[in-house]
Amino acid sequence: MKFLYILFVTAWCSFLNQAAYAQELKSPNGALTMAFYLDDAGRPTYQLAFKDKSVINPSHLGLELKDDEKSLLNDFKVLKTENATFNNTWAPVWGEEKEITNHYNELTVSLKQNETNRIVVIRFRLFNEGLGFRYEFPQQENLVYFVIKEEKSQFAMTGDHTAFWIPGDYDTQEYDYTESKLSEISSKFDKAVTGNASQEQFSKTGVQTALMMKTANGLYINLHEAALIDYSCMHLNLNEETMVFESWLTPDVNGDKGYMQAPCNSPWRTIMVSDDARDILNSRITLNLNEPCKIEDTSWIKPVKYIGVWWEMITGKSSWAYTNDLPAIQLGVTDYSKVKANTTHAANNTKVKRYIDFASEHGFDGVLVEGWNQGWEDWFGKSKDYVFDFVTPYPDFDVEAIHNYAKSKGVKMIMHHETSGSTRNYERHLDKAYQFMKDNGYDAVKSGYVGNILPRGEHHYSQWIVNHYQYALEKAADYEVMVNAHEAVRPTGISRTYPNLIGNESARGTEFQAFGGSKPNHVTILPFTRLIGGPMDYTPGIFEMDISKLNPNNNSHVNSTIANQLALYVTMYSPLQMAADLPEHYEQFMDAFQFIKDVAIDWDKSVYLEAEPGHYLTVARKEKGSDNWFVGNVNGVNSRTSNISLDFLEKGKKYMATIYGDAESAHYKTNPQAYSIITKKVTSKSKLSLLSAPGGGYAISIEAVN
Ligand code: NOJ
Ligand code: CA
Repeated sequence: MKFLYILFVTAWCSFLNQAAYAQELKSPNGALTMAFYLDDAGRPTYQLAFKDKSVINPSHLGLELKDDEKSLLNDFKVLKTENATFNNTWAPVWGEEKEITNHYNELTVSLKQNETNRIVVIRFRLFNEGLGFRYEFPQQENLVYFVIKEEKSQFAMTGDHTAFWIPGDYDTQEYDYTESKLSEISSKFDKAVTGNASQEQFSKTGVQTALMMKTANGLYINLHEAALIDYSCMHLNLNEETMVFESWLTPDVNGDKGYMQAPCNSPWRTIMVSDDARDILNSRITLNLNEPCKIEDTSWIKPVKYIGVWWEMITGKSSWAYTNDLPAIQLGVTDYSKVKANTTHAANNTKVKRYIDFASEHGFDGVLVEGWNQGWEDWFGKSKDYVFDFVTPYPDFDVEAIHNYAKSKGVKMIMHHETSGSTRNYERHLDKAYQFMKDNGYDAVKSGYVGNILPRGEHHYSQWIVNHYQYALEKAADYEVMVNAHEAVRPTGISRTYPNLIGNESARGTEFQAFGGSKPNHVTILPFTRLIGGPMDYTPGIFEMDISKLNPNNNSHVNSTIANQLALYVTMYSPLQMAADLPEHYEQFMDAFQFIKDVAIDWDKSVYLEAEPGHYLTVARKEKGSDNWFVGNVNGVNSRTSNISLDFLEKGKKYMATIYGDAESAHYKTNPQAYSIITKKVTSKSKLSLLSAPGGGYAISIEAVN
């Protein structure tokens, strides 16, 4: 060990000596060291170390520009460097804790390109749990408009790490994760690509962020981005020979990767690192690198627990479409009053009222209804521009009557806007659609972008479409509408600035359990990957795992136990949580359903107790404004005993715990509905030893007693 340390220090010092303009930056606690220098060719170069271990070997930074322009890659000199320290706390509108600390040391390097006199600033922020850096292009004569051919930010790995990755794709993140060595990505790539309504991979060594890795010497490393605004989404492409990742932006229809006008800047690139996996989950780097809240009055933004007329369509038991009698429909031309309703259309007045009753009886805030509006008969795969208008209901869905009924029951309706990827059509209707929502008592919308994007040739993650999602979000804020966007670009902490973004899908959600199933350890990985950018509308709470019971033509099996489904309300942090299964399934297991009714969705404090990506995750959270705690544990494919201490509870206080756990014989495949519920007095001195079945887990509600 000592020998290794000496080797490391020698290598680090010799690097600093040879580098003409070496600058060193330390994290506030001193555990992380970042060094920056220009190499002999004037290329910006950085490297990062955690304690005595290198995390990022010397890596170049820069941008390749389109056409004949001299790229912003080399030939730089350092104009000036500035150091700063920042330390404050801020209160999120909703979150895993009521107060977030933002503490970092900053190095700003202003660079001038010798031949062109162009100025590029690289800003580094070093937190205790990782590094963020971005490019800034100040206003100047010689760099005004420019087109990015490729961003060339490198992340040089120090070895053949274990990675939890999904294929790099310009249109979807709805993939199962593959755990493999970095050197195995290309050989495992084809198998990792599963079908989707819209998808395009770019390289057999291309992966998406947030990318989670573990090194042989016990470091956890996470690469992602923060504040993706007016820029294209970044993927990573690995050079398998050198183990260097390089940024790979999503192109537009012309293959261009960014249209820029100075002054402007790139999003932040983030590298989190720790020798304890829990620190990755505890880190608030992504949020901290976003701008503070831009919405003045946030009193209308509220966490939402909801049910929906949804799972029955996803499983194929019911349909979104109103009729089967027409080969196609045209909005404004097709007269639905003249066609026969099919028997499977779920969004009808009678059924919706039943869902409202159920929501009201069990204390849910909202009811989502999909398939309420005209156009679902041929919405998918037809590249239709004018596909939905977002204001015209089917004849069997009475918007006003349902609004009044929901209001009388103290329940809010949640709007659904499936755009079918037709973003221009959505923008065309957006004002009217949001106004229609407000007129009818809807405060939240679930939007969706299934299928290829229109304008044709654009991708889900290119700059133009990223700007569309942002436009829809900001306009929603004008109308005081909360947004949960599915199939949109994965989040990058923008909910700090626009907390009306209460959810996103942008990963493989529970719907895939009805499309053939997901890997049983999927939910032990998502918190380390997809959730690094923000909450996910994962839609947990499935109690009937045999999907053929809902639809005899669907043989899918939900790879999870009931206890695991309960735990997800705690382990998959989100201010928007759905109880996704059908009311009749909950009615069969009312004792387990009690946890879903009780669990909080906004928190004062979160304490990660155990974590290992791909294997297990246990977290305890204190309900906002109360003394109650909830604990969730999800487990991978091998059964495991989880030993936890309840020392997070207030000392001297007494609590009653209700433990919803896997029965001994539980198994995600063979016995998913076997659970046990026990109650027990606990204090901060209590220790629990609990079994988690394969694909299982446990959920605990801990109530303070007087
Ligand atoms: C895909 C979404 O993820 C799902 O939740 C929704 O029901 C369908 N699109 C239809 O919009
Ligand atoms: Ca989806």
